[in-house]
Amino acid sequence: HPLPSKMFMINLKPSWLETPWGGHYHGGNLFLDRPFPVRLTGTKYACGRGGCGACTVMVSKHDPVSRKIRHFSVTACLVPICSLYGAAVTTVEGVGSIKTRLHPVQERIAKSHGTQCGFCTPGMVMSMYTLLRNHPQPSEEQLMEALGGNLCRCTGYRPILESGRTFCAESSGCQQKGRGKCCLDQGENAASSLGGESDVSPGFCPLPEQVCTRTHTLRTLTFHGERVTWISPGTLKDLLELKVKHPDAPLILGNTSLGPAKKSQGHFHPVLLSPARISELSMVSTTSEGLTIGAGCSLAQVKDILAGRVSELPEEKTQTYRALLKHLKRLAGQQIRNMASLGGHIMSRHCYSDLNPVLAVGNTALNLMSKEGTRQIPLDRDFLAGLASADLKPEEILESVYIPHSQRWEFVSAFRQAQCQQNALADVTAGMRVLFQEGTDTIEDLSLAYGGVGDATISAQKSCQQLLGRHWNEPMLDEACRLLLDEVSLPGGAPGGSVEFKRTLVVSFFFKFYLEVLQELKKPGKLLSVPVSALDGRHFPEISDRFLSALEDFPATVPQGVQRYQSVDSHQALQDPVGRPIMHLSGLKHATGEAIFCDDIPTVDKELFMALVTSTRAHAKIISVDLSKALELPGVVDVITAEDIPGTNGAEDDRLLAVDKVLCVGQIVCAVVAETEAQAKRAVEETKIAYEDLEPVIFTIEDAIKHSSFLCPEKKLEQGNVEKAFEEVDQIVEEVHVGGQEHFYMETQRVLVIPKTEDKELDIYVSTQDPAHVQKTVSSTLDIPINRITCHVKRVGGGFGGKVGRPAVLGAIAAVGNWLPHSSCLLDREDDMLITGGRHPLFGKYKVGFMNSGRIRALDIECFINGGCTLDDSELVTEFLILKMENAYKIHNLRFRGRACMTNLPSNTAFRGFGFPQGTLVTESCITAVAAKCGPSARKGKAVIKVVTKLIKPSTNNLKSSFHSRRMQVAEFNKKNYWRKRGLAVVPMKFSVGFAATSFHQAAALVHIYTDGSVLVTHGGNELGQGIHTKMLQVASRELKVPTSHMHICETSTATVPNTIATAASIGSDVNGRAVQNACQILLKRLEPIIKKNPEGTWEDWIEAAFEQRISLSATGYFRGYEAFMDWEKGEGDPFPYYVYGAASSEVEVDCLTGAHKVKKIRTDIVMDACCSLNPAIDIGQIEGSFTQGMGLYTTEEELKYSPEGVLYSRGPDDYKIPTITDVPEEFNVSLLPSSQTPLTIYSSKGLGESGMFLGSSVFFAIADAVATARRERDIAEDFTVRSPATPERVRMACADRFTEMVRDSRLPPWAPPF
Ligand SMILES: Cc1cc2nc3c(=O)[nH]c(=O)nc-3n(C[C@H](O)[C@H](O)[C@H](O)COP(=O)(O)OP(=O)(O)OC[C@H]3O[C@@H](n4cnc5c(N)ncnc54)[C@H](O)[C@@H]3O)c2cc1C
Ligand code: FES
Ligand code: FES
Repeated sequence: HPLPSKMFMINLKPSWLETPWGGHYHGGNLFLDRPFPVRLTGTKYACGRGGCGACTVMVSKHDPVSRKIRHFSVTACLVPICSLYGAAVTTVEGVGSIKTRLHPVQERIAKSHGTQCGFCTPGMVMSMYTLLRNHPQPSEEQLMEALGGNLCRCTGYRPILESGRTFCAESSGCQQKGRGKCCLDQGENAASSLGGESDVSPGFCPLPEQVCTRTHTLRTLTFHGERVTWISPGTLKDLLELKVKHPDAPLILGNTSLGPAKKSQGHFHPVLLSPARISELSMVSTTSEGLTIGAGCSLAQVKDILAGRVSELPEEKTQTYRALLKHLKRLAGQQIRNMASLGGHIMSRHCYSDLNPVLAVGNTALNLMSKEGTRQIPLDRDFLAGLASADLKPEEILESVYIPHSQRWEFVSAFRQAQCQQNALADVTAGMRVLFQEGTDTIEDLSLAYGGVGDATISAQKSCQQLLGRHWNEPMLDEACRLLLDEVSLPGGAPGGSVEFKRTLVVSFFFKFYLEVLQELKKPGKLLSVPVSALDGRHFPEISDRFLSALEDFPATVPQGVQRYQSVDSHQALQDPVGRPIMHLSGLKHATGEAIFCDDIPTVDKELFMALVTSTRAHAKIISVDLSKALELPGVVDVITAEDIPGTNGAEDDRLLAVDKVLCVGQIVCAVVAETEAQAKRAVEETKIAYEDLEPVIFTIEDAIKHSSFLCPEKKLEQGNVEKAFEEVDQIVEEVHVGGQEHFYMETQRVLVIPKTEDKELDIYVSTQDPAHVQKTVSSTLDIPINRITCHVKRVGGGFGGKVGRPAVLGAIAAVGNWLPHSSCLLDREDDMLITGGRHPLFGKYKVGFMNSGRIRALDIECFINGGCTLDDSELVTEFLILKMENAYKIHNLRFRGRACMTNLPSNTAFRGFGFPQGTLVTESCITAVAAKCGPSARKGKAVIKVVTKLIKPSTNNLKSSFHSRRMQVAEFNKKNYWRKRGLAVVPMKFSVGFAATSFHQAAALVHIYTDGSVLVTHGGNELGQGIHTKMLQVASRELKVPTSHMHICETSTATVPNTIATAASIGSDVNGRAVQNACQILLKRLEPIIKKNPEGTWEDWIEAAFEQRISLSATGYFRGYEAFMDWEKGEGDPFPYYVYGAASSEVEVDCLTGAHKVKKIRTDIVMDACCSLNPAIDIGQIEGSFTQGMGLYTTEEELKYSPEGVLYSRGPDDYKIPTITDVPEEFNVSLLPSSQTPLTIYSSKGLGESGMFLGSSVFFAIADAVATARRERDIAEDFTVRSPATPERVRMACADRFTEMVRDSRLPPWAPPF
């Protein structure tokens, strides 16, 4: 059949696919393929793999079994369009609009300051909206679950959760609760409080009757596409016949396995069979022996079904169900659980599967079906290994899954350890079951299965066999560990690395299971015939309360917290918005999806797309480039190489397009331009480049040092007499490693180039922090004057330094062909991560000389950063690193040296903090080490608080007292718990704002007043989510004494404000604010005579009069910049205009058996000296966001992984983990210190964009404190090399114990060298 014209509903409107494909399916997804088949741009595209939640929409379907409408959230990037037959889709546009009516979810997230760049916001809104559809008053746990699959890189999540919490049953957030109203609902539109039918009623049906019934047709529907045929049978019989006809065709359910495999591994299936309409696959039946669940049920449904059984049946029968439920809460995010089917999960047999190990130990059976009949096979080791004898036949399908009840004397448990608590694939996952002979602790049956430790789920059958008949005691534990390590072996070079960690988890999990079961057995009356001696531990202490903490899981709770700031002076005019916590100017538009990002600009007919061909070699000569095949492909317009560039091809040592040789994997060699993005990408694969490898190939800092491979001369600062000071004191010499960081801005790099027909003019819409740089680069590349090129930046979906330099490269390449009507380039997450580089990894060595009292007399630090293959910002980063490394300490004799290493990796670049977060970690590690040498660990706390007190006097009393009482509580906790340790740390911070050159502080603005009194403000800063436009209007409003409602900022454009400086270095609002102030003061001065003449007049009257009197209503404002300079030759200067001071204290709890850590029951307190904040809500947002990003840098964001050939493996949210909603500290307090005056800056405010990054290290040092306690207790040397990030792997291996000892094998070659 051709595609039915009205196939599904979008936002209550019947929709059909008037797509460029002429109504035919071509294997496309709802939003994955561009041009989007459905041009609703509110839904955002950030990863295309289901891992970030930016594309969340709600799907409503009629359930043929329950005959009810089911609403569930999905990630649109993985939803095949044909799977939506008969469904309704609600996107953020269908929820509310600033033009008509806002939904409370939208209004509250904006007013809670839950949006910064706004790129994640539509996804957040849709996750919460779907939750409310199903649960109008959700619990806080449900809220956490609903948002677990949504990533945000800007906010730190706290305000997002706070907005969601206002809907929760247990909320205490809103004073007006109980009256059905929330204080956040006032103002924007009166009707937006909850309660309307269309707001949250679960009975709400977005599907007309005939669509529901049409879905239930028994007819087979076939959608033919260009390359793919989608067949959706209406009956089981038809499905089985189709499976005979197309034995190789996969069944497609959630597409969460097939979809990502198609995207990342290029798996292609010409025929897809969709069993979604077959009700037999959704059936659930129960017997007295067990439960049968249809293979088509989603994992979310499975979770509900199991929860139902757990509540109905006695505990002993539901052991397997409970274990599965534990994993189902953590597996992926809510959207994936809604989409993924049980059958798809089992059949995918992913090695990391969370459910298969538990199902395997739980004696699950698979009910298979084919035209020939039915049969049952066990879900066992052979099935999981994919042995043909134990597998489905090509014509068979999995109909349902039978999970038997557990029995008395049987215990089942599940374990997993991942980088983050939620939305992260497990490093190791396990299911374990033991059955005892009745009334004894003698093992009758034992099953242990592991995921993550091989190519498939592994059952440790041999070990289990050998343990039968043994007592559940310490000798059995020892023997089991030995057997398991033998059987569940993992070769040293296993892909993914972390071999020792994984092997440690294998035995640590078993130990947890051992304790869990022991605890159960020891319950009064449980064991009747166990000799007491059998339970006595020989090596291992008797299970006492101290050891029980090994069994607890960290709960995911909604964080609490207080944000303190000073309210404005009571005499301040009401209209004057400066200092008030005003919502982000675009907040509501972010929440409704009406905020336009670069990629949302409407396309025109015949738009062209560009895709990049990148090097696959780390250091090689280009022998030949064969474009012939690529050029022959349909739709391909051209391939641009270096020879096509009319002007300059970048710098000699940093080419836009490679010439003759490549310096890293991921270097851009050429670019394909085609009519569709898919065509361009296909042509990329057909571009053949021959290379000849060159020597040397350098990846690590150590190798670069060995080869003297550096990008620039050494930078050095010295004061006092270091050598002499060292002679008189004790010394420590240590090394510190700090990993790099991926920017992971939610909006990947994108650019749109529109050539004009006249005078070589070009309009460029680009997501950048530095449009003037894009403009300049395009000008030199095309060899046309700068004045022909206009760069426009409306808003940027997060930059963090990653959009300072790189967008110019993309813009210049996209502009080369001058293609009409326009060409665009959007980097997929994979390419963005591959090409654009990130934060510099650092290796530091320090030598510190100190006295017994702890006083530091001399400090010598030498640092090396990995700059990658070109200079980029590496020299500047080295300089900043050196200049800022002293942090808040004062050391009289010091020597700081830094060098940027040249390696064959993509060039690293600017990143929030610009070297400060890496360098200061070295200094802080050194202070920690000295404190540890000089006395009890509390001493450092004392010393640091002294520093903090000096820095920020007024508020440290509180910090001090709670720090000391909490230190005692932590010690008490640690005494009582062997396997859990808490740690507490406080770090001081002195962050220098701005650039080390005066010319970089200049800024300009252009302010127009129109004859109706409305004001248009333009300035040189770019809106990256940091709220610069909001702050600029606050400044303009104060100066002109006109409400912000009269004012507007349209965009940043090189045509209105020329020669701008990158929005970076925390100084953007500050310097541009001064320029806006200047422009407004000029205008007001011109208006003064008119106002004087008619003081009672209105603003509009004065403007009208000014126009009549021919007074110019337009003015440019200019700020010449703060003085700053540095002479590196002399080692002298005054490099920064001013400093921001702050401190953070964090308390964490570490699970010594898994390495998991959580700022749980535990809190982070931050104090920051913002002086007189322009907008405390925005500033607190910056502090919380940068703290969270810093916490990611120092704890979860494992260094990017490369293969030994230098190929980046970490290419998306599944391989690279930024903090998720469950990582927010459980108590998160931020206080801005009472306002003080600093005459230098605009209204005495300070730039706070970056400083919070380093405060994230308080979590790192708290973890280090906890680990040190564990090591002391285990009698292992306290010192250990500081390696950031403190990932669960590093933490686990540092908490060395008998289990880590069992697996240590120094012969194992590392899989991924540390870069
Ligand atoms: C972002 C993300 C995060 C994830 N996180 C986790 C995680 O933390 N832990 C974890 O364990 N997993 C995780 N997964 C994997 C996920 O659980 C599986 O991809 C999912 O369960 C597969 O189900 P599906 O319905 O989407 O399968 P599909 O992709 O639709 O199909 C997968 C395969 O199953 C076969 N198949 C499906 N149904 C049948 C049937 N009835 N009979 C025969 N063959 C059938 C198909 O032929 C196909 O080959 C994650 C996936 C994503 C995208
Ligand atoms: S874009 Fe769909 S989940 Fe990231
Ligand atoms: S506001 Fe969440 S990613 Fe920017």
